[in-house]
Amino acid sequence: MLLDGLRDVPPGKLAAVVTHLQMVQRPAPRPVPPVAADLVAHDRPDPAWYRALFTRVGRDWLWFSRLSLEDAALGAILHDPDVQVFSLRQGGQDLGLLELDFRVAGACELAYFGLAAQLQGQGAGRWLMERALDLAWAGSITRFHVHTCSLDSPAALAFYIRSGFTPYARQVEVADDPRLTGVLPRDAAPQVPIL
Ligand SMILES: CC(C)(COP(=O)(O)OP(=O)(O)OC[C@H]1O[C@@H](n2cnc3c(N)ncnc32)[C@H](O)[C@@H]1OP(=O)(O)O)[C@@H](O)C(=O)NCCC(=O)NCCS
Repeated sequence: MLLDGLRDVPPGKLAAVVTHLQMVQRPAPRPVPPVAADLVAHDRPDPAWYRALFTRVGRDWLWFSRLSLEDAALGAILHDPDVQVFSLRQGGQDLGLLELDFRVAGACELAYFGLAAQLQGQGAGRWLMERALDLAWAGSITRFHVHTCSLDSPAALAFYIRSGFTPYARQVEVADDPRLTGVLPRDAAPQVPIL
């Protein structure tokens, strides 16, 4: 097989293993304890506000894809009527991001899902996932899907599987290290060395 064996990753690039997961019906709702935070819908999110939240949640995991888009390109996604953006707000601060993408008919992508560090490990992720499942399956869909990569929280893949998603495909993604292109600060995600 052409891909077998170790492959060089050029300096300045990151490589990650991406796992794609899906479900084709809503799992039985789980009773979850309430959280001391509010789910807030953002109808036409301001791109600068969105980038700040995306960075607050994702910088530890080198989320970069949305950060290099210009306002117009980012706004075109966020303001699409088939894209839903929510924040999890605690004490006046937006500390969680939930983004659902219904732009492909019949499906919903859990496009972004995550919590800032101070909200993790307290049941807020489970609570937010139940809301995501409610919102996704309220749409006219037959498939709800997500992908996560090996740069994300090590808890994420098992969390998605416990949430009812089934892994169905794996890819390798190579990209510029966003800390070297200036998209994220150099001290982001110190668990991933800069090479
Ligand atoms: C992955 C992630 C969403 C998980 O969220 P989390 O809030 O840390 O996870 P939780 O604390 O809700 O859940 C962990 C487990 O502990 C349980 N738990 C932990 N603290 C709890 C509490 N105080 N009360 C009740 N249950 C609790 C949850 O029920 C859950 O168990 P379950 O999955 O079997 O239901 C979160 O770690 C995260 O945002 N990571 C960074 C971003 C990321 O990697 N996102 C995914 C990339 S695609």
